[in-house]
Parts: sequence; structure tokens; C-alpha cells
Amino acid sequence: MDFTVCPLSGGVGVEVLGLDPDNAISEASARALRDLWLDAGVILFRGIGTSPEALLNISRCLGDLEPHPIEHFRLPGYPELILLSNEKTLTGPVYEFDGVATYGRIPWHTDLAFTTTPNAGAVLRMVRNSEHGGQTGWIDTALAYDALDAATQKHIEGLEARYIFCPDLSAMRFNTPGGKLLKSSIKGLPTFPPVAHPLVWVHPETGRRILNISTLNIQCIEGMPQAESDALIEKLVAHTLQPRFQYIHLWENNDVVAWDNRRTMHMAFGHPVDETRIVQRSTIRGTVKMGRVIETCEEQTA
Ligand SMILES: [Fe+2]
Repeated sequence: MDFTVCPLSGGVGVEVLGLDPDNAISEASARALRDLWLDAGVILFRGIGTSPEALLNISRCLGDLEPHPIEHFRLPGYPELILLSNEKTLTGPVYEFDGVATYGRIPWHTDLAFTTTPNAGAVLRMVRNSEHGGQTGWIDTALAYDALDAATQKHIEGLEARYIFCPDLSAMRFNTPGGKLLKSSIKGLPTFPPVAHPLVWVHPETGRRILNISTLNIQCIEGMPQAESDALIEKLVAHTLQPRFQYIHLWENNDVVAWDNRRTMHMAFGHPVDETRIVQRSTIRGTVKMGRVIETCEEQTA
């Protein structure tokens, strides 16, 4: 194995030291890296993501890669990578938070939570960080589940939650970040029907129970009166967002972070819109179906 591992401060995630992704990663190291990804949920590699190829080499250790379903976001010449950048055009909304026009703030979520096949994971490479802000946070939702009291664990077992596609923040119902919308998201994004997912999901590879509560997307508990549903979700969200379950990364250029999307939520803190921030990202293909699409007639009566 060509690397060493040390825990990140705070108890969520690990840092890998000594890996060289500019050269071929041995099969043994690739296997060890994948095992570590499943075991830790979040892996930090400081300063070694010096090229798209390095990002791809690390990413391919974790599984098959898939192009983002929204072609607009792909990095030209690298169909398996997406480009998140405000250098030339804006692809997301701009909000005013605390008097600052802020770009790229995405509240706590799991990727593709609005589909029935969320991706297995993703890997970010910081190409150029903004001067201010720009942090990314992760929450270990397996730890959050484990820390629930037994009565709550029993109460939520078997429940389904409804998730929607939420390209800007106006449709969020829980832990809404506020802010004033200055510029809307890009037009012409595809639409997605709402889906119902297990609120407690069993990780398909580790068997761990996950508190599946993507705050950007969650709307209600299926079949539960709204007041009761809102109270339960608010309680679970407050529990899950505790700092003891979080790792917040302050980026340096060429840092890389990989995460298991089935076992974590993440948040982009955003940065001043007039400061350039460029990130590349791969997506590890999801292979296990989660939940179901909610049919239109069901949607009307829920
Ligand atoms: Fe995301």
C-alpha cells in the first residue's frame, strides 16, 4: 500500500498521505483506498490534485465513473468530470447573505437525492479557490443515525420521505438559509418527478444504517399529517446538523476530497460572486436503486 492514513480532527473522515496520483496507482492501493472510502466516508488528499488526470486516477479507485446527467455542467474534453466555475458564466443562483452577493451556496444535501439512483460518491479537486469563503462541509449521517436514541430509531424505521429537485433554494422547507435572490438559476434545466426514499437507509456495501435526510430536497414524511411530519423532520435535521457529525474543509489549491454519497451529506458554503472559484468533480456511479418515483395521482392526494 502506497499511502498512510490519519484521522481528521473532529472524528469525521480521514486524511491520506503519500499517495502519488500522477503515476499509476497499484491494484493493492486502489483496493485499500476503496475500503478506506467505505470505512471513513470522507477522505482528504492535500495538494496532490494537480491535474484532471490525477483526479480521474483517484476517482477510478472508487468505482465506475458517470457523466453528470446535466450535460451543461461537464468539463470540456473530460466527459467524466464536471466543472464548477464562475469564471466565465454563472450556472447557479446568486443570493445576498449578510450583505454579500454570494455564489455557489448549496445547503446540506446528498447528490441526486431527487432520483431513485443517487450516485455512490464523488471526488472534488480544488483548481482555484476564492479569496473568501468557499468551504465545503460533510456530515456523517451514519454517525448521526447511531447517535439517535433507541425510541427515535424505532419510530422512524420503515418511514419514507419525499424528495424534490430543488435547483434554487425557494422550494426548501427545512433549515432554509434565507438570503435574498439576486439572480436566478440557469433556465432550461430538466425537471424530475418527486421521489420517496427510505428515511433510514441501509448502506448497500457496509450494512450501516444511514439517516437519509437531504435538507435541500426533503419535503415531508409520506402518509403522515403535515404538522407531525414537519416536527419530526425538524427534530431529525437539528440532530443531524450538530457540529460533532461534521467535517468542514478550508481548501487550498490542488486539495482533493472524496466522499461516499450514500453515507454523507455535504454543503457548499458559497463565496463572493466577484471572486473566481474553480472546482472539478467526478461522480462515482450509483448501482443500487433507492426508493420509488411518486406517481402524479399520489402526488395530488398526499
Ligand atoms: Fe452536491
